[in-house]
Amino acid sequence: MASGMCASTVLLLALVPAGRHIVTTTDCYRKTRIFIETILPKMGITATVIDPADIGALESVLNQKKVTLFFTESPTNPFLRCVDIELVSKLCHEKGALVCIDGTFATPLNQKALALGADLVVHSATKYLGGHNDVLGGCISGPDKLVSAVRTLHHILGGAINPNAAYLIIRGMKTLHLRVQQQNSTAQRIAEILEAHPKVRCVYYPDLPSHPEYHLAKRQMTGFGWVVSFEVDGDLLTTAKFVDALKIPYIAPSFGGCESIVDQPTIMSYWDLKESERAKYGIMDNLVRFSFGVEDFEDLKADILLALESI
Ligand SMILES: *Cc1c(COP(=O)(O)O)cnc(C)c1O
Ligand SMILES: *[C@@H]1O[C@H](CO)[C@@H](O)[C@H](O)[C@H]1NC(C)=O
Repeated sequence: MASGMCASTVLLLALVPAGRHIVTTTDCYRKTRIFIETILPKMGITATVIDPADIGALESVLNQKKVTLFFTESPTNPFLRCVDIELVSKLCHEKGALVCIDGTFATPLNQKALALGADLVVHSATKYLGGHNDVLGGCISGPDKLVSAVRTLHHILGGAINPNAAYLIIRGMKTLHLRVQQQNSTAQRIAEILEAHPKVRCVYYPDLPSHPEYHLAKRQMTGFGWVVSFEVDGDLLTTAKFVDALKIPYIAPSFGGCESIVDQPTIMSYWDLKESERAKYGIMDNLVRFSFGVEDFEDLKADILLALESI
């Protein structure tokens, strides 16, 4: 499909009948949340929003309502929270609900959500599958019956991927396994360095024992990806100063390509919200989301340490 958003919005429109109920999670890609909260209600579709680890909340909504679909990311954006895919799939299937995982943060190499029990997986190919920060695309995997229903609506709504974008994604995927290895390992090593650094307040990365779903992530993922979110010990301006002092990464809101990218959500992806609204989603002024590229590990480490020293 033409983009990741196209994949998830068409999937939701195709598989959730008007007037039905879905479940989603608190931490999630902002545009997906906006679609669920403002566009789906026009079709009478309502949503219960739960914490990614709150199995009790999932069970209670499954018991109280006829739920059509549980739609979530794992890991989520930007806090890399993980959902127990095997367990939620079992609980949802007992009540006749489908499970769709947005696996963009994991890639199909680090996590196999369909094998864990999910019915459908969507990916924004704009990120890791394309891998070069130069193309938009999205895809859906799952059984023929479900994917065909999505495809029928997709052909009505449009949003087909253009041939050049498809070509760039095929070309990018040839090096996916190599990029995943390098970026997994850089992100994991730097997450540990950041966590031990006095100018960093906390680090969000599933491969750190401090992460709330550390044990779960170890069980259901084989690598933990290239995005590390962390809070600098300082306010909005100190954090912006840190971001500006970095020499290697581009300052941009995407991730998953060969070039490292850094994002300060308060003044970028969430710039239009008031502080109180951002706080609802846990977006603090000092939050930084770093996507590691394929640059040399020592160069990236030196760049980050120098920038931290400068604040
Ligand atoms: C980027 C992203 C999307 C949207 O993808 P586009 O290709 O930019 O439309 C959806 N979900 C997640 C988790 C993403 O990171
Ligand atoms: C991802 O990185 C981890 C840790 O460095 C490694 O153990 C794992 O094999 C990697 N996964 C892939 C698919 O390369």
